[in-house]
Amino acid sequence: MFSFSVAFDSNQGIGINGVLPWHIKEELQLFKKNTLHKNILMGQTTYDKLPGKLKNRNIFVVSWEEAYQPEGVTVVRDLIGFLEENKDHDTEYIICGGASIYNQAYPYCKRGYVSVIKDEYKVDTYLDCFHFEDWNKVEEVEYDKFIYYLLERKEDGINR
Ligand SMILES: NC(=O)c1ccc[n+]([C@@H]2O[C@H](COP(=O)([O-])OP(=O)(O)OC[C@H]3O[C@@H](n4cnc5c(N)ncnc54)[C@H](OP(=O)(O)O)[C@@H]3O)[C@@H](O)[C@H]2O)c1
Repeated sequence: MFSFSVAFDSNQGIGINGVLPWHIKEELQLFKKNTLHKNILMGQTTYDKLPGKLKNRNIFVVSWEEAYQPEGVTVVRDLIGFLEENKDHDTEYIICGGASIYNQAYPYCKRGYVSVIKDEYKVDTYLDCFHFEDWNKVEEVEYDKFIYYLLERKEDGINR
């Protein structure tokens, strides 16, 4: 089954120049807690621009490039094939961006780990595919700089 993890600002902005527009320690800690010892999947741009290594996670990176093979990760060259193949399995795969990967994987996701950052930031990348109406709120926790939601897909939310 597929989940997704994202943080977006009040305009659903998620990135700038290939990186996160903000640095919020508590939010990064939450990301770590939610993804530790799990399968996580992200696009090549997001992976290549990570500020550090993500330890203790099974990392899948989506790329078209034949020669692209960073050490210690599994490269996924056929994303839709991967989504179709794993959507009905119990094992959780967490989609971790960026925009192009969220857009393609969103209809497959049954759970969301979502942080809504309270401020507005300068961004060049948005999470256009996400709509709160597709989801039930299972958990809501307010932090100083963001609100965290654990979401489960509604029965009639767009689905596959
Ligand atoms: N706020 C958050 O929670 C969050 C989380 C993650 C990332 N981000 C931000 O999002 C931004 C990056 O988003 P992005 O959309 O530019 O990049 P991305 O989704 O991380 O990666 C795009 C790369 O993946 C390739 N790709 C896309 N779909 C593919 C497919 N089906 N098969 C094979 N390869 C595929 C693209 O190739 P083509 O260009 O040739 O299609 C491109 O090289 C950054 O600013 C990052 O910080 C934010």
